[in-house]
Parts: sequence; C-alpha cells; structure tokens
Amino acid sequence: MADVDGVGGENDAAGFGIGIPVETEAYFLKGSNDLGWGMKDRMSRIFSPESGRTVMLAFDHGYFLGPTSKLERIDLAIRPLAPLADVLMCTRGALRTCIPPTYNKAISLRCTGGISVLKELSDEVIAVNIQDAVRLNASAMAVQVHIGGVHERQTIDNLVKIVDSGMQYGVATLAVTAVGREMVRDARYLGLATRICAEMGAQFVKTYYCDEGFEKVTAGCPVPIVIAGGKKLPELDALKMCRRAIDEGALGVDMGRNIFQSDAPVAILKAVRAVVHDGLTPEQAFEMYETLKNE
Ligand code: R5P
Repeated sequence: MADVDGVGGENDAAGFGIGIPVETEAYFLKGSNDLGWGMKDRMSRIFSPESGRTVMLAFDHGYFLGPTSKLERIDLAIRPLAPLADVLMCTRGALRTCIPPTYNKAISLRCTGGISVLKELSDEVIAVNIQDAVRLNASAMAVQVHIGGVHERQTIDNLVKIVDSGMQYGVATLAVTAVGREMVRDARYLGLATRICAEMGAQFVKTYYCDEGFEKVTAGCPVPIVIAGGKKLPELDALKMCRRAIDEGALGVDMGRNIFQSDAPVAILKAVRAVVHDGLTPEQAFEMYETLKNE
C-alpha cells in the first residue's frame, strides 16, 4: 500500500523535473485563447488541432423545412456519412432518433427554431435549454441570427442568451448568419453580420461564401468562420468554393445539401475533406470524387 514515505522523497528529485519549465502553449484557434478548458476541449473536437480546420455535416434543415429532398430518412441518408464528418449539425430530435451515440461525434446542436418555411423565418426563439445540450454532450449550440431581418433584435437576443448559458457550462456557440431574401450576400453584408455575431460572443460563425471580398469578411471577424454550402452545386463548383473559402481565411465548411443531395454523398464528403484538411486543389479533389464515385 502506498504511504507517505513514497511521496516526494529525496531519491525522487528527477521525477520533479527540477529546472524544466512547464510548457505553455497558445491555443491554435483564432480568438479562442482565453476560453476555459472545457470550451477549448469542445472547440478541439470541432476543429482538428492538426489541420486547424473542420468539415461539418449539416442536416438540420427539417427544423423549418420538414423532409428536405434526399433527407427524407435521416437514418438512411446520414449514417453512412457521419463517420466521415468532424461534426454533425442537427436538431436534438434528429440526434436522439437517428444517430447512434456510439458514433461519438462532435455535435453542433441546433438550438433555435419555432418557425416553418410557411412563416417569417426570422421569428425564431430558443428551442433547447443548456441542460439538454449538456445532456447530449453537445460541443456547440447553433443559433440562427437574422441581421437586417424583421426580427433582428429577437435573434440577437437568442444569441446572447445562448452564449451566456454556454459560457456557464463551457459549451461553444455557433452563430449562423441567415440571409433573408431581401438581403444581398456580398462582403459588406456578410462582414456586418459575422462581426456582430462575434462581438455578441459567438465562439465561431457560419456564413456564406461570396465571390468578391470574402477575405475581408474573415479578416474582420475575430473568431473562426465556417462556410455554409447553400443550394446544391455541381460537385466541381462546390469543391472550388471550398478551396477559395479556405484560401481566403475560412477555417472550415458546414455543408448539407451539397453533400447529401449529391449522387455520391460519401465520395463528395471525402473530396471536401481532402480540400479542407489536406490542401488538395478542386481539380485533384474532383478527380478523387470521380474515382470514388465509380468504385
Ligand atoms: C441554415 O440556415 C441551416 O442551418 C441549414 O439547415 C443548414 O445548415 C444549411 O446547410 P446547407 O446550406 O449546406 O444545405
């Protein structure tokens, strides 16, 4: 049995590493150095500490769209893809009913809702409390923010409340910038929306890519940005968008329709990973996609 004689005896000096300073290192993610240990642990489950990037798979569309095309059966559509994603972004209903906990994936839990596509989309409320997010071991809580929308203030209020609860428990908040039909998805608007989300306390922000000035959007946002996929594009175009977004400062992608609506979802997800994590060109990744698709 261990006893006090075995603690810190003279013969153990080497074990104390006298003269060797304790290593301290800066945290690898932009804007995240001063977060607490639990939050950093969760952010490290989202963003790979090796590449500094993430490939998130979004399938939360049903929370306002119902059974979206190719997502009619979440279990059939998503289970083959889930092991290949760094993070699963979904509602608690989809998570509990369709995703086995044994997958052990980082979860970005959709935490706002309350509307359908038939109504005003910015009229969202908080739809999950922090206790349930913790119960589900969520790494992040995702909040829709409608800058310039009819209910702009309400959605910012949702964001602030979720950030406050996340700070209490060390769960990160992902602000998702929703762009209403009346808004222009240009660098000026996206820069405004992402910056507001970061300043309100979001630990990372999801927004759209824009062809001109996207590097200003990422530079002006003090926390990591991941891009949304948006409507289904031809695979090569989707890979080009990923490459450009990463080269212009995005730290990952959070894609849904461009993955699960592809003719070869597993192949395109692997190709997207190759662009984001391994630095492949869109053309190299597309070749990889074609090869995998035909296997
Ligand atoms: C955005 O408003 C929601 O979070 C979506 O349901 C989803 O994340 C969008 O993903 P994508 O545009 O890549 O289909």
